[in-house]
Amino acid sequence: MTVKSEIRPGIYSVGATDWDVRNFHGYKTQRGSTYNAFLIVDEKIVLVDTVKADKCDRLLNNISRIVDPKKIDIVVSNHVEMDHSGALPQIMEIAPQATLMTSKNGIKGLRKHFKKEWNFQVVGSGDEISIGKRTLQFVNTPMLHWPDSMVTYIPEEKLLFSNDAFGQHVACGSRFDDESNLGLIYDEAAKYYANIVLPFGKQVNKALKSLAGLEIDCICPSHGVIWRKDAAGIIQKYQQWANHETEGKALIVYDTMWNSTKKLAKMLEFGLVDADVPVVSRNLSVNHVSDVMADVLSSRLILLGSPTLNNSIMPTMGGFLTYLGGLKPEKRLGFAFGSYGWGGQSVKKLEEAMTGLGWEQPQAGKKVEYIPDEPDLSDFRRIGEELGKLVRD
Ligand code: FEO
Repeated sequence: MTVKSEIRPGIYSVGATDWDVRNFHGYKTQRGSTYNAFLIVDEKIVLVDTVKADKCDRLLNNISRIVDPKKIDIVVSNHVEMDHSGALPQIMEIAPQATLMTSKNGIKGLRKHFKKEWNFQVVGSGDEISIGKRTLQFVNTPMLHWPDSMVTYIPEEKLLFSNDAFGQHVACGSRFDDESNLGLIYDEAAKYYANIVLPFGKQVNKALKSLAGLEIDCICPSHGVIWRKDAAGIIQKYQQWANHETEGKALIVYDTMWNSTKKLAKMLEFGLVDADVPVVSRNLSVNHVSDVMADVLSSRLILLGSPTLNNSIMPTMGGFLTYLGGLKPEKRLGFAFGSYGWGGQSVKKLEEAMTGLGWEQPQAGKKVEYIPDEPDLSDFRRIGEELGKLVRD
C-alpha cells in the first residue's frame, strides 16, 4: 500500500509537525516547524532520528500506521539536540532490543542528556551496515552544528538523511520541495542557515567536501520539506553561504529614540537607492533579530545605527550585536551612524563591534547632534550613495 508518508518504496516520513512553535531557542519561527524522523522497512526496520519529547504521540501514530514500533531493530541518532532525541527514551522503552547507532560524541551527549544505557553502537565516517536490500553509510559532520552531528546515506537510493543541514523551520501540508512554494522554502532555508549554521562555515565546507563524492538525488532534512527536486540547488546555496558569499545589496539596521537616527537611516536609504543598490531597512523596535539575520546573510553592506543612550547604544541594538557577534558573518562592509545629545558614544561602539567581526569600514562612522538639519541630511544621502557604489554588482 502506498501511503502519503512514503518517500520511496519502503521509506517513510514519520516525524511530527509542530504547528504552534513560534520561538525556537530565540529564533522566531512564524511558520512553525517539523521534527522529521524517517522509517525504513527492509529486512531490518530502522528509525532515523526521533522528535521532541512532547510530540512522541505523533511519531508513534505515524510509525504504527506502517509497522508495530516494537519491531524497530535499529534507531539512528544523527544528532543529540532534543528536538531530535527527545522521544528516544519512549522509543527505546517500546523497542528495548533496538541497537542505537550514533557517533562517538553522540553517545557521550545522549548519556549526559538521558542518563540511560541503551544498546549503543558507535558509527562514523567510513562505516556502513547492510539492512537488507539497502545499506546505511555514515558521515560525521562535526559542528554542523554540534560536535555529535552526523548524516546517514543510503547509496542504493541516493538519499541522504541530513539532520539539521539543509533544514527549514516550516510547518506545512506538503512534504516535498516540488509540492511547495520554492521561493518561500529557500527563504526559510536561508533564515535557518543564518541563525543556526552561520558560525560554522569552515565545518560546512569540510562536510560538503565529505559529501561531494556521494550521488545525492534526495535530501531528507530534520526540519521542513524534503529536497527531491532541487537537492543540487540547496547544496550549492550552502557552498555559497559557507564561503560568506553575499550579493550587491545593502542592509540598514537601526533603532531610534526621537526619530533623529531614523531620519539618518532614511537618508542613507535614499542614497543607496540613488546608487541603484537594493536596500532593506530594519528598525529593531519592530523587527526580530532572527529575521534581520536572514537579511545579513545576503547583504554585502551593513549600516548600523543607534542613538546614544546612557553613554551606550539602544538595548535592542545591544541585543542584536550580541547575537551578530555569536553568528560571526564575515566579508562585509560596514558603516556606523547615530544621533546624540551629549557624550555621543554610540557610533564608536558600533564601529568597535564591526571591527571585532573583521568588517572593513570604508567611511568613518558619523554622528549628528540632537536633530539632523538639511546639510546633515544631504551629507547622509551622499554617504549612502558613495557606499552603495562600492557594493553594487
Ligand atoms: Fe534541529 Fe540541532 O537540532
